[in-house]
Amino acid sequence: MLKEIHEQSDVLVSSMQGRYDGLSNTVDLSADFQDSPISKGRIQGITRCLLVGMGTSMHACMIGRHYLERFAGIPTEVDNAAEFRYRRPLLDANTLVISVTQSGETVDTLAAMDEAKRADCLQITICNTPGAQSTRLADLSLLLGAGAEISVASTKTLLASIMALHAVSLSLGKLRETLTSEMEAEQVVNALQLPSAVSTVLGNSGKILQVARKYAASEHFLFLGRGLGYPVALEGALKLKEVSYIHAEGYSAGEMKHGPLALIEDGMPVVVIAPKDDYYKKTISNMQEVIARGAKVLLLTNKDANQVISENI
Ligand code: M6R
Repeated sequence: MLKEIHEQSDVLVSSMQGRYDGLSNTVDLSADFQDSPISKGRIQGITRCLLVGMGTSMHACMIGRHYLERFAGIPTEVDNAAEFRYRRPLLDANTLVISVTQSGETVDTLAAMDEAKRADCLQITICNTPGAQSTRLADLSLLLGAGAEISVASTKTLLASIMALHAVSLSLGKLRETLTSEMEAEQVVNALQLPSAVSTVLGNSGKILQVARKYAASEHFLFLGRGLGYPVALEGALKLKEVSYIHAEGYSAGEMKHGPLALIEDGMPVVVIAPKDDYYKKTISNMQEVIARGAKVLLLTNKDANQVISENI
């Protein structure tokens, strides 16, 4: 797992190669979709999108939803594939279903895809395994190219899935004419900086280890975030449970005052994900509420954010 965590910068570079062009500042998926029989008219006729996956892949979907709505102007929902398959979802030929699955073989995700196929939905799968069943069911496949993920706990494929959803959303936005070239250029420039940003964070692993040692004996953890930080919080809690057997919950930070605040005990570690985005001030104010209840906050934010709290990593 550690090896795969440290591969992430390279994985990002290879997943953007041939898709993100830093000279023209454009995204182009034509090499991935070159044999596609899907017309521009069909893409423009999409009225709604459903993103399906399980576990970590579903968390990638929750981030992808923001991109699809923002760049492609498509009303988007995220569904846990295991729920989707049993709740008789309302689907039609103008619904785009995007499945995210590292293995391409997760039974619930495949069953959701079968359901979508019966309704004649347009389907894209984002998958790391060439030739997997999800690539056979979908109309279009976007391969992650992250290399085999041997660890059961997903790490590098989460980042690659998010990148793939970003690229798909930008491409759909271009075809649907909802994305301006300025927005596209801004996104490409930012995306191309990610590999070095990831290396910088991983270069900080000494500090991360120090903090981990300090809180390793804690029995409960909370992870809080808003916006894109919310799925990151859910993923943090999932990963902590999976690899440390420590009880952890992820919440939208705005949800805390509706009950979960009662869980905070003196000294309880709370990981707050608060990048300097549109949600920053709100998240920081939620953070102050948990500090007032005695939580020890581990804040993940931008370097220049300058918050003075118990641990700032
Ligand atoms: O292969 P998939 O992406 O479809 O797998 C879905 C989940 O089982 C998977 O993401 C799981 O949650 C992670 N391996 C947990 O780290």
